[in-house]
Amino acid sequence: MSINVPAPTPEDKFSFGLWTVGWQGRDPFGEATRPEMDTVYALEKLAALGAYGVNFHDDDVIPFGSDDATRDAIIQRFRKGLEDTGLAVTTATTNLFTHPVFKSGAFTNNDRDIRRFALRKVMRNIDLAAELGAKVYVAWGGREGAEYGASQDTRVALDRMKEAFDLLGDYVTEQGYDLRFAIEPKPNEPRGDILLPTVGHALAFIERLERPELVGVNPEVGHEEMAGMNAAAGFAQALWQGKLFHIDLNGQNGPKFDQDLRFGAGNVRGAFWVVDALLAGGYDGPVHFDYKPARTEDDDGVWVSAEANMRNYLILREKVKAFRADPEVQAALDAAKVPELSTPTLADGEGWQQLLEADLPDPDALAVRGGGFELVDQLALEHLYGVR
Ligand code: GCO
Ligand code: MN
Ligand code: MN
Repeated sequence: MSINVPAPTPEDKFSFGLWTVGWQGRDPFGEATRPEMDTVYALEKLAALGAYGVNFHDDDVIPFGSDDATRDAIIQRFRKGLEDTGLAVTTATTNLFTHPVFKSGAFTNNDRDIRRFALRKVMRNIDLAAELGAKVYVAWGGREGAEYGASQDTRVALDRMKEAFDLLGDYVTEQGYDLRFAIEPKPNEPRGDILLPTVGHALAFIERLERPELVGVNPEVGHEEMAGMNAAAGFAQALWQGKLFHIDLNGQNGPKFDQDLRFGAGNVRGAFWVVDALLAGGYDGPVHFDYKPARTEDDDGVWVSAEANMRNYLILREKVKAFRADPEVQAALDAAKVPELSTPTLADGEGWQQLLEADLPDPDALAVRGGGFELVDQLALEHLYGVR
């Protein structure tokens, strides 16, 4: 282990989905390459690596269809695992995608009986989430969507999506739970087109809810990049709107299938700017990894990759801080007028009338001023390349 990378501490608030390290490597073309992972074993390994918390789908802990006695016994054992390891449950979520009943969606299934079943499944797991102290409930609607234009009316599907979040907002409020929701956008996969495909779509949707204050977003780096978006810009806008309730960090190599690489692999520059956006915006929630250890790996490889997520975050955090503290960078940012963007466009007391009457410099003279962005970006790259 290199001496420059700090070890993870609880203050870093690193968390993992149990479905990440527990992923068995099943893909559309191949069977599982790893055996099922015991949840308490996962807790022990994650705690030993320095993680702070975990996140799970109901079915990750309690197999779908378990009877009440089995459910209670499983929860008791899981709870003991949490106590023994000191791990927090930061977040929880519902599996509304594996069972065939959800083949055409959950909250927005055309079949009303399935929608009602889905909402009940979520409410039941919200009870457990609140009991275990989770503060955020993630909602990834991977099966909400369509392959064909005529198979679903998008506007009506959005009505049902709103109905679902309004109901769940009532539920947590009336139960007195301290729990907020974070919608996780994704453009496609497993559906051809998924509803609320990007951060922007989700933020606009949230404003139409009855309790918008209870709902934010959980952007995933790879999902934004699958849609050709700049993830850091999406994270920054969510922060600007006070809506970055949770984050899913991972890696992706451009618009293709969802790779869920460990954070810091894939688009490295993108990862650098994501960390910069989080630090600049004062994000203080769990630093959550949602990745899949490659299906080539055995159990050892799983834990190498788990630790690598945290290491890469810590490495990038050091690099971002060094970049921001570098006097040459600060001079280059000044020359590029980056701080000037914070000055409002109108002066105090100025309105449109004064602006119409003001003496403005000649636009041709303004046009010859250089941006200075090449230098700023090169300095960032040199920090990233490790030569500064
Ligand atoms: C994906 C998604 C999922 C969700 C998770 C929470 O890779 O498509 O990230 O992993 O985050 O299932 O519901
Ligand atoms: Mn993903
Ligand atoms: Mn995710």
